[in-house]
Amino acid sequence: NGNFAVTLIPGDGIGPEISESVERIYQAAGVPIEWEPVNVTPVIKDGKTVIPEEALLSPGNSDRPCKSVVGYKTPYDDVNTVLIRENTEGEYSGIEHTVVDGVVQSIKLITKEASERCARYAFTYARNIGRNRVTAIHKANIMKLSDGLFLDVCHEVAQEYPDVEFDDVLLDRACLHIVQDPARYSDTVMVMPNLYGDILSDMCAGLIGGLGLTPSGNIGAEASIFEAVHGTAPDIAGKDLANPTALLLSSIMMLRHMRLYEFADSIESAVLKTIAEGKHLTRDLGGNATNTEFTNCVIDSLK
Ligand code: IPM
Ligand code: MN
Repeated sequence: NGNFAVTLIPGDGIGPEISESVERIYQAAGVPIEWEPVNVTPVIKDGKTVIPEEALLSPGNSDRPCKSVVGYKTPYDDVNTVLIRENTEGEYSGIEHTVVDGVVQSIKLITKEASERCARYAFTYARNIGRNRVTAIHKANIMKLSDGLFLDVCHEVAQEYPDVEFDDVLLDRACLHIVQDPARYSDTVMVMPNLYGDILSDMCAGLIGGLGLTPSGNIGAEASIFEAVHGTAPDIAGKDLANPTALLLSSIMMLRHMRLYEFADSIESAVLKTIAEGKHLTRDLGGNATNTEFTNCVIDSLK
């Protein structure tokens, strides 16, 4: 029927209610998407707990833009960071063993292939969003071989993008800079290995008010996942109190990924307008609106 098929994974806790908010807003905006809901609640198979097979995908890099949200006061009003994180290896490779009793070793695996894919994604992304700098974040002064390889690969890839500047900053120094003066990083795209990206992305999310306002996308060659990275909040599940903003903003990244720019722009303005007006804020943002009231306001704000 000419619509794009998109897998929808509502998940547990507040997942179904915030997913419904996205579905309602998309329907009202006329987004040409056919949702295909998939369940990821673990099932028991051959005596083991596993995620249903239809839900298994393997994306490669993840990105996290953190932009100050007008209407939600934090000590910072000029945050506009974009962070690209390698999302398949590093300390997450899961290779660990006990050498002898009391001594363990965890392998940090860095490959040229994954680093290159990630660096190239960062440079292309910078170009696409009109930023003319990429900054590699690393600890190559300590992790000479692993972070050294990541950094070397970034330098090599930079040669392919003469129109984009490249620089690098040590992770600890970057943290110091960002909390002192986040605007310093508002014209660049940060790129880094997995664990650093995990930590720094939550730090940036903290600067704009937390994970409830932070979008995220996991980008792979064959599949991409856009998700709210906050928890499932079982304590408020089913009470219509959840804030769907992070999922909505993540879905807007998806629309841009799918090149559905007009829908992305109109839904994004409606969400930001609803927050900026401040009349229908959910409890986490200091208001007392329900998810349904917030969602209705976003729908009313659609042009
Ligand atoms: C994230 C999460 C995950 C991570 C956890 C849930 C394994 O914190 O998506 O950033 O550490 O990568
Ligand atoms: Mn994390």
